[in-house]
Amino acid sequence: MNLADNDFYQAWRAQKLALYPVTVNDLVVDIQDAEAASAKELQQLKLHLRQYNFAFYRFVQQPVYRQQVHQLAQSLGLKTIAHNLCADADSLTAIQVSQHQGQHDYIPYTDKKLSWHTDGYYNPAYEQIHGMLLHCVHPALIGGETQLMDHELAYLLLREANPNYIQALMHPEALTIPANILNGETIRPAQTGPVFSINADGSLHMRYSARQKNVVWRDDPMTQAAVQFLLDLWEQASIYKLSYTLQAGEGLICNNVLHCRTAFTDASDSEQKRLLYRGRYLERAS
Ligand SMILES: [Fe+2]
Repeated sequence: MNLADNDFYQAWRAQKLALYPVTVNDLVVDIQDAEAASAKELQQLKLHLRQYNFAFYRFVQQPVYRQQVHQLAQSLGLKTIAHNLCADADSLTAIQVSQHQGQHDYIPYTDKKLSWHTDGYYNPAYEQIHGMLLHCVHPALIGGETQLMDHELAYLLLREANPNYIQALMHPEALTIPANILNGETIRPAQTGPVFSINADGSLHMRYSARQKNVVWRDDPMTQAAVQFLLDLWEQASIYKLSYTLQAGEGLICNNVLHCRTAFTDASDSEQKRLLYRGRYLERAS
């Protein structure tokens, strides 16, 4: 992918836009055997990943085990799990309303709304997240909807609005996440880097958070305008944004596209609380 070449860009742009409108129901692929997805099922998921940078699956039989979810991700090329402070040592991270040590009240582990972001935007350059999986074990009683947008579409919309937005967001100092300091101890140093970058394989990578606190944007009018463009985009209806509440046995596999989550309410019964598994991978799906 050579987005710097205008002829390439125009052809790529036309191809991307022609894929919409689309709904999650158009895309979801049923997985018949949780032990091993069939070649045809995998082919379909890979096609969606190539086209949209995301794919939805539904295991038709319950229950589904964590290992089977991880296996599906592996068959799509997501192999190396990146560990965060709260990750379970061996595998996928359970995302639920909980309090456990080392968590520091991170919003993902509450029932609050999560604003638009890509995963690992606070990671150092060598540990950027290129693949991501969200698997639903149990949905919330109300809410907890996932919204997502292919980050390539965000790039496209920014470039259409003003090509200088892209230049500003590719600047190596576009976005700084200040250090994470807890009780005087630096848990994570500050991370500065671009929003958009090009991976070694030519694919587009995005590092982004719409949060207003604990992010520092480069002090430059074009950067500020590009950031405002994105904030406005999140407030508007758009055929390029998909909304879906994952149900039990369903999941999303993506090349770390833009996503957010609405607030939710859990049932009072402890068996019925929202539980998702999340995997963050160093590779893109292939
Ligand atoms: Fe996320």
